[in-house]
Amino acid sequence: MALNVVIMAAGKGTRMKSAIPKVLHKIAGASLLDHVVRAAAALGSSRTVVITGHGAEQVEASLAGRDLRFVRQEPQLGTGHAMQQAVPALDDGNETTLVLYGDVPLIGTASAKKLVAACGGRQLALLTIELADPSGYGRIVREQGPAAAQVRAIVEHKDATPAQRAIRETYTGIMAAPTALLKRWVTALRNDNAQREYYLTDVVAMAVAAGVPVVAESAASEAEVAGVNSPQQLAELERAWQRTQAEALMEAGVRLADPARLDVRGTLTTGRDVEIDVGCIFEGTVHLADGVRIGAHCVIRDTRIGEGTQVQPFTHMVQAVVGARAEIGPFARLRPGAELGAEVHIGNFVEVKNSTLAAGAKANHLAYLGDATVGARVNYGAGSITANYDGANKHRTVIGDDVHVGSNCVLVAPLTIGAGATIGGGSTINKDAPAGQLTIARAKQMSFPGWKRPKKAPKAA
Ligand code: UD1
Ligand code: MG
Repeated sequence: MALNVVIMAAGKGTRMKSAIPKVLHKIAGASLLDHVVRAAAALGSSRTVVITGHGAEQVEASLAGRDLRFVRQEPQLGTGHAMQQAVPALDDGNETTLVLYGDVPLIGTASAKKLVAACGGRQLALLTIELADPSGYGRIVREQGPAAAQVRAIVEHKDATPAQRAIRETYTGIMAAPTALLKRWVTALRNDNAQREYYLTDVVAMAVAAGVPVVAESAASEAEVAGVNSPQQLAELERAWQRTQAEALMEAGVRLADPARLDVRGTLTTGRDVEIDVGCIFEGTVHLADGVRIGAHCVIRDTRIGEGTQVQPFTHMVQAVVGARAEIGPFARLRPGAELGAEVHIGNFVEVKNSTLAAGAKANHLAYLGDATVGARVNYGAGSITANYDGANKHRTVIGDDVHVGSNCVLVAPLTIGAGATIGGGSTINKDAPAGQLTIARAKQMSFPGWKRPKKAPKAA
């Protein structure tokens, strides 16, 4: 069924104490609002309207290029007033309109779908939750009498009588309404209440008066309807989200040293027998093939890691591709365009950028490979670097198969080292080195017989 989704995102978020608009704060690397926009898309919304106000330009810019309509609400006179601004942007052809909050990021598709289905373009469906401490929230007021009594109204906390304040069933802020009726109802809202606001929740009593059925559906968890108003709540929902990610990974067979010490900020896909130690962060799209083991405290973004590879602690990878049975780290850094073949070893304090290393190549200690093509089984010594940048342009270094580069070499690009060559330690190589030969480019060692070390002059008295 075709669906409108309205996302309320005009509010200020004073308690965040931040210059950043509230809905642009992030959970798992994506803004709160982005989570909600994705939920709308997952529900099959054909028209998503975002209501902006505080920081409107920034908020709209953050979603540029997405298939959304923006409407501005200035000033913010309540949720009903917000909906009045959204009404002209709705698609009348969509029978149902779902209301979401931009600061309630973890709304589950199952609950939202249930609500949309309950509405069916004919009934007013409210997502509700029983809270131990309902204070501040709108209360679901039902008819007196038998259980499962009809919903009669939502009463805001500030307008509620003491008896109504005792009600623990609260409104989550999420509803699904018949589009045509919603449009009619919101034009009739008034602000004669404790807060002098236009309450969207007043449409409930209007529906009851018009004989339109009102149904309440329960949320699946507190987390999915929890709003973010403070850094504390932001951190709580971050943990809730990460717990869900960790559960899903373990469900798929991944062995996590501690599900509470994992952060996935994007999509992590895994093969069989993957192990992840504590404190790792996965960003963007990361794939770990069968048998991959990730040591503690690695940060890995937009990277694919091949079967059986071991990544030791404190390794950082961005836009890299790592082959099978490789050994990376500890303290290795793979930058964009690092493409490592099978059984490559990259050791401590080795940085690789925009370089391919063929199978079995090794750079085990303190080295830099930038803009290089490295052949199979190359051994790249400690302290050696490619001088790939002349201050204006970058140049390539091509190292043939089976080359040995000694320690502390500077390979001045553009440069080609032929297959099987050996480069003597401490060499600065700025001309191509022939295949199969030993090339050395360093000052000759000299000794001075009879040389005396200068003595300190005696101090003047
Ligand atoms: C609202 C509900 C209340 C419910 C609660 C759940 C009304 C009148 N009350 O409370 O029953 O229990 O949500 O959290 O709807 N917003 C705008 N423009 C405005 C006002 C709000 O865009 O003028 C947005 C806010 O940014 C926020 C959401 O709407 O995302 C809810 O606003 P908030 O003030 O937190 O909720 P209440 O109105 O107090
Ligand atoms: Mg309010």
